[in-house]
Amino acid sequence: MRLVVGISGASGAVYGIRALQVLHGLGVETHLILTEAAMETVKLETDLKKADLVRLATEAHKIDDITSKIASGSYKTDGMLVIPCSMKTLAGIATGYSDNLLLRAADVTIKERRRLVLVVRETPLSLIHLENMATVTRAGAVVLPAMPSFYQRPRTVDELVDQVVGKALDMVGVEHSLLRRWDGPRGAQSRTPQRRRRPSPSRSA
Ligand SMILES: Cc1cc2nc3c(=O)[nH]c(=O)nc-3n(C[C@H](O)[C@H](O)[C@H](O)COP(=O)(O)O)c2cc1C
Repeated sequence: MRLVVGISGASGAVYGIRALQVLHGLGVETHLILTEAAMETVKLETDLKKADLVRLATEAHKIDDITSKIASGSYKTDGMLVIPCSMKTLAGIATGYSDNLLLRAADVTIKERRRLVLVVRETPLSLIHLENMATVTRAGAVVLPAMPSFYQRPRTVDELVDQVVGKALDMVGVEHSLLRRWDGPRGAQSRTPQRRRRPSPSRSA
């Protein structure tokens, strides 16, 4: 299996990093594109360097290398993840404004009718963001907000991250074991309840 993985400058670099780790472990061929803003979020949000991410990918491509093989539809892939996907990158994809390699690879994925999954992250969402999401959905992409659920009683941030990454991998057809799949309410209730902090006394606004 061969996937393009784009990491843009939305918060949540950890989602992209975790996806790369899992795909690496599964032996999936990955073509990584990091935007300039993503390099900033990786620095700000993690202790990793660009080289650590590049090591996890089969091949890394420069964001401005528009001659790269993944810029062409004739180079076959099984799809593309943009994880996390910023509102700027979403806008570029929605309008077909392919002025960097990530945007071009996404454009190619759509035009070749391959699976494109955008793990968007922003809050709150403006009408512009929502309309761009509707546009890419109409064009065949999957908008998958970085929005974990809590009915399985996640205990750690890693579990929350794995849940989002697992859903994204499901959408590109990668078999994995990141998710605890819903098996009815009993499964969820069998988890040890989290230790809760006592709520602090309410403060006046
Ligand atoms: C720490 C940090 C967090 C950010 N978080 C978000 C975010 O969650 N969503 C978003 O759309 N943009 C976010 N941004 C802004 C984008 O990085 C910015 O719009 C950038 O131009 C996106 O470029 P790219 O799409 O080429 O990566 C964040 C920026 C920084 C520095």
